[in-house]
Amino acid sequence: MDKLSITGGQPLHGRLRVSGAKNSTLPILAGTLLTEEPVLVSNAPHLHDVTTMIELLGCLGAEVVIDEKLNVEVCARSLGQLRAPYELVKTMRASFLVLGPLVAKYGAAEVSLPGGCAIGSRPVDQHLKGLEALGAQVVVTDGYVKAQAPNGLVGTDVYMDLVTVGGTENLMMAAALARGETRLHNCAREPEIVDLGNFLNTLGAEVDGHGTSTIVIQGKDKLHGGAFRVMPDRVEAGTYLIAAAATRGSVRLEDVDPETLGAVLEKLQMAGAEITYGEDWIELDMLGRRPLAVDIETSPYPGFPTDMQAQFMALNAIAEGTATISENIFENRFMHVQEINRLGANIELHGHSMAVVHGMKDLRAAPVMATDLRASSSLVIAALAAEGTTTIDRIYHIDRGYETIEEKLQQLGGAVQRIS
Ligand code: UD1
Repeated sequence: MDKLSITGGQPLHGRLRVSGAKNSTLPILAGTLLTEEPVLVSNAPHLHDVTTMIELLGCLGAEVVIDEKLNVEVCARSLGQLRAPYELVKTMRASFLVLGPLVAKYGAAEVSLPGGCAIGSRPVDQHLKGLEALGAQVVVTDGYVKAQAPNGLVGTDVYMDLVTVGGTENLMMAAALARGETRLHNCAREPEIVDLGNFLNTLGAEVDGHGTSTIVIQGKDKLHGGAFRVMPDRVEAGTYLIAAAATRGSVRLEDVDPETLGAVLEKLQMAGAEITYGEDWIELDMLGRRPLAVDIETSPYPGFPTDMQAQFMALNAIAEGTATISENIFENRFMHVQEINRLGANIELHGHSMAVVHGMKDLRAAPVMATDLRASSSLVIAALAAEGTTTIDRIYHIDRGYETIEEKLQQLGGAVQRIS
């Protein structure tokens, strides 16, 4: 099993190109099932989760071709089956996003209940409730969701009880082929939702209001093919900004969308970073200073993202002062705390949703273990800031979400090696 060996204590400096967004690529690839014509998706990151989604499309019978520039062309002309098996869905919760497109296009689907990161129970009740409102019959048996709509879905008002990214995405895709108008209420407003809406419109869908809490969709009889470039990954970008800040370094990110990083950039400025940005670049400079502790409270976009909580905790662990971190999206997303503490941090947990971080001047290397995707990137940041050589075990979690992390950190001067 691969590990990362990181010798910390040196500031990161340099420039990096940000990859395409994993959380945008996955729903977009699922959305290619809505049309029988070829769809070309560019700027998809080279990640394990993306490979899993491509495998799932192939298993359903779609033809997938990947060129040397990693552009992915999907043609879902003749699907052989409408069943997404447990073996593929269990490794990645986003596989569940094929449910909406399959029911909408083919009137039937069987999708295993999802797995994914072990960060709480993460139910799918809102996805199912919404599909039922659109006229699907849904039963859950033997670990599978079986949905049927032999006469097609019918547009209506759907009220989600809570803000869910995946739920909003599944229902947007389903509604794209429903008869008549669908109004989705209490939608997630994440940039990846905007990207998905733009993608669907490229295929001839009529989606309006994506990026606001009410999305209105005029259903179409069919969608056509097209080409779409995935947005930059805001979580990857934020992670490298925080890594540079934690090591008192500087970084210039390119191919990034600063507008999608508002809450993170603000907190980094409060931590003492000098930040400048243009349309598609961001520069951060700590001017050699130790970061200041900053309180964080996660909430749906445009609030501070839960996917950046662990990384900011690592920054607070070596900051001057004490900070409180509240996690309001997932109930079990503090698994990194114990591991960061192994590096000499002083973080106290108060229940499942609050942590108090007493900043330490120095961290020291120690063997640690990655527990989930974003938790593992917080360990990388803490290790880069710590004196000595840290080994991070179980980095397959990192490979789900960060493209060639060791190469990108080496580009910034980080002493990072992958070892097996
Ligand atoms: C997506 C992201 C993930 C991010 C999360 C929140 C992808 C592939 N993943 O995950 O990186 O951390 O958004 O920004 O885009 N919930 C329900 N019922 C449902 C659906 C969700 O109770 O039917 C709850 C979840 O348990 C969780 C909260 O709603 O507590 C938010 O989950 P959701 O927004 O759906 O997250 P994902 O789409 O799974």
